[in-house]
Amino acid sequence: MSGELRNRPKGTLDFLPPDSERKRWFETAFVRLAEVYGFRPVETPLFEHTEVFIKSAGETSDVVGKEMYTFTDRAGRSLTLRPEGTPGVVRAALEAGTRLPCRLCYTGPFFRYSRPQKGRYRQFHQLGVEALGEASPYVDAELIMFGAEFFALVGIADCSVSINSIGCTACRPDFRAQLIDFLNQRLDQLCTDCRRRAAINPLRVLDCKNPGCRAATAEAPQPMNYLCPECRGHFDAILDELRRRNQRFVLDGRLVRGLDYYNRTTFEYISAALGAQDSLGGGGRYDYLLREMGGPDMPAIGLAIGLERTMLAAPMAEQPPRRRLCWVAFFSTAERQAAIDIADRLRAAGIPAQLDFDATGIKRQFRSADAAGAACCLVVGPDELARGVYTVKDLGTGSSLEVAANTVIEEVRALFRY
Ligand code: HAM
Repeated sequence: MSGELRNRPKGTLDFLPPDSERKRWFETAFVRLAEVYGFRPVETPLFEHTEVFIKSAGETSDVVGKEMYTFTDRAGRSLTLRPEGTPGVVRAALEAGTRLPCRLCYTGPFFRYSRPQKGRYRQFHQLGVEALGEASPYVDAELIMFGAEFFALVGIADCSVSINSIGCTACRPDFRAQLIDFLNQRLDQLCTDCRRRAAINPLRVLDCKNPGCRAATAEAPQPMNYLCPECRGHFDAILDELRRRNQRFVLDGRLVRGLDYYNRTTFEYISAALGAQDSLGGGGRYDYLLREMGGPDMPAIGLAIGLERTMLAAPMAEQPPRRRLCWVAFFSTAERQAAIDIADRLRAAGIPAQLDFDATGIKRQFRSADAAGAACCLVVGPDELARGVYTVKDLGTGSSLEVAANTVIEEVRALFRY
């Protein structure tokens, strides 16, 4: 095979065992936790009509403007590989006429054409939840704590929660006018992107990581200080509830997030372990999106967690337990049938069992067991069969013992804690 054929596309990852097993473990832990908070699984297509993303994330956002994988299909439709989950989930719920409120969760791949680096990929995975139709600040607090609970569950101790409120259609125009005014006086200090943003999407300037832009906007007006009484009340209620439940958080007046559908609450989970790509996940309210996408005037809030970043930040001790496979080895073809039968009994008892049918000798079967990471090897030999026993070898310690054929399942289960 030529080099080209063996190389994965830039910005993508392969997950082979044991990484694939570790990934599955995180996904399962997430879905289980989401389910106890009342979220039910949703699956949407990997591509949507391009309009769905333009209408939601906004034409001027980096995700839509620079990072989408957009293509025209054979019938001339413009389609886009989903760069995030929220618009597709909203579209699906509206299309199905789902009764609201409704809590939905998902895991799966997403696609953004960004510059790859550690923690940033062109195909990546998100773990997400969307609470459609829920308005109360208690929901905001509950979701923020749900995310924090997930990170604690997977052993990420150094995860901090940043929170902001970016207001609503009532308070934002005033704030926006003040911000534009402020930025216009400092255009020469801003990066090229921010000079453009200052006119079309000034909020995003607050979020720019460029040190020059950060310095120039250190004293910039922040949306949190321009909230209308309703937004202020909503925000204070969230903060009170988080304090009441001992959830630590940091107020970050610059946290506007990169997607245009947000209003009021925005939040992000930050890890010190990650370097430049330090956002483990984030979310916020999007009370106008359902209506903008042709649905009812209903509020909503959600969050998404980056799976690859979570796997990077989580300690390895959080890996799933070592694979507990029981290899069944047979001396010669004369014992093959008996070996197949005992493997079947193990599997019926829920113990993963595997054989090497291509092996010509017992040595190679032990090598196969080793390569597969099996926990033990159950040996079926002529002498053992005649005596009604099996030899079970612990592949971790190398020690062997004989167990009676009629109690072998219980013995293997107890010995290797299946
Ligand atoms: P987001 O902040 O764009 O929000 O993405 C959420 C998380 O996905 C990020 O914090 C990061 O961990 C991960 N992520 C994003 N881009 C990449 C990438 N290129 N490579 C690796 N990981 C990445 C959203 O996507 C919103 N849909 C969240 C949301 C749900 N808001 C409301 N509901």
